Amino acid sequence: MFTVHASRCLGFGGRINQTRIVLELLILSFSFRCSAARFMTSSVAAAGSSSSPPPSALSGGGDGGRKERKEALGWIEWFRGWCAIVWEFLFQRIAASHVENPLPLPPLEDVTCIVTGATSGIGLEIARQLAESGAHVVMAVRRPNLAHELIQKWQNDKSESGLLLNVEVMELDLLSLDSIVRFAEAWNARNAPLHVLINNAGIFSIGEPQRISKDGYEEHLQVNHLAPALLSLLLFPSLLRGSPSRIVNVNSIMHCVGFVDTEDMNMTSRRRKFTSLAAYSNSKLAQVKFSSILHKQIPAEAGISIMCVSPGVVHTNVARDLPKIVVAAYHLIPYFIFSALEGSRSTLFAATDPQVPEYCALLKSDEWPVCAYISFDCRPTNPSEEAHNLETSQLVWDKTLELIGLPSDALGKLIEGEPVQCRYTSKAQ
Ligand SMILES: NC(=O)c1ccc[n+]([C@@H]2O[C@H](COP(=O)([O-])OP(=O)(O)OC[C@H]3O[C@@H](n4cnc5c(N)ncnc54)[C@H](OP(=O)(O)O)[C@@H]3O)[C@@H](O)[C@H]2O)c1
Repeated sequence: MFTVHASRCLGFGGRINQTRIVLELLILSFSFRCSAARFMTSSVAAAGSSSSPPPSALSGGGDGGRKERKEALGWIEWFRGWCAIVWEFLFQRIAASHVENPLPLPPLEDVTCIVTGATSGIGLEIARQLAESGAHVVMAVRRPNLAHELIQKWQNDKSESGLLLNVEVMELDLLSLDSIVRFAEAWNARNAPLHVLINNAGIFSIGEPQRISKDGYEEHLQVNHLAPALLSLLLFPSLLRGSPSRIVNVNSIMHCVGFVDTEDMNMTSRRRKFTSLAAYSNSKLAQVKFSSILHKQIPAEAGISIMCVSPGVVHTNVARDLPKIVVAAYHLIPYFIFSALEGSRSTLFAATDPQVPEYCALLKSDEWPVCAYISFDCRPTNPSEEAHNLETSQLVWDKTLELIGLPSDALGKLIEGEPVQCRYTSKAQ
């Protein structure tokens, strides 16, 4: 039902992926037989959320009306999530066969883009292609020397065409919230417009033990969710200046098996065992939920579109921490896995296609409970059922603001052009 809504809204692309619908219908009918009552409750909550009362009303109403707190993903949602992941892995090449590789980009001479994690994998490809299409690209990276070497190489490759790339490097370490504040202060001080922020940098430390950053947060949570959330809000004045502008979050199909416990964002309470897979999936779901509230709260007149993107299953350095034998197997299945060039297409599409902001605006006017989600095949899709839960999305929003050290009214102030104080700096933005 979510896929049908997205396609109706869309107007670009248009063709519904029939294989996936059949698969979803099969799972739905199976789920229905197994647990009819439970399915009805969750579906109504998700599908009806466009007409649901606002989150404040949902959480109010005294103890008598208080709903039981959900503590984990239901097994049916979990099963559906894994089906979506396996489907993406097996069929992404077929489903995306209509998308050109590389994706043709429009001329981008007047566009300024910040790309985080632009020294490797998908981010490197995104930055290179944007720059080669004429955009002013800021590589926001933790290894500036490597970024300068890459620019030199790209420039040498283009020397025959006489194209002068407009790329610069700024240091940014997502494992330090101070570093994000410094980056945003430096950028905002230019009083220059920002048209596209691409939150690409991410980690998936497969099989690694739990690690806590110096800011006190589980590392997947910080790098994949908290840091991009803080960066997006702190760069708000520049995005307003560049309006119409976009925030593109490179997300993952893995969010479908994620669950965010706002009372245990660091996964340290021992209520459930820490695994890097759960930490990664949860952080990606938290990003979808936070982005959905951001999308909902930004007034249409601000002209800032928020979207999440799935790049597909892509051959990059993201698997560098896997055991050697698994990395070897990973290299042996090139048919199924996208190259970084192929994996960059959905993000580049979200960042540059002129119809994407129209789609975001349509979702907003429909009061759809989630932000736009662009799939690896450059078509809009719907994130998981859990992502549609507005009540928990609001909790994720509130908790995230608290963790990144911003006041609960930060967005309102930013929209009004007022300064906001972040706990990670003494200076007003
Ligand atoms: N590959 C896939 O199959 C896949 C699937 C779904 C989603 N994604 C998402 O796609 C995005 C890009 O991943 P990728 O596959 O291209 O992986 P990658 O090759 O490992 O690239 C990740 C980039 O993020 C940067 N980064 C990591 N930690 C950082 C930090 N603390 N501060 C600043 N930058 C940091 C890395 O910088 P260094 O070069 O300095 O390490 C690198 O440039 C991620 O958000 C990932 O979750 C990937």
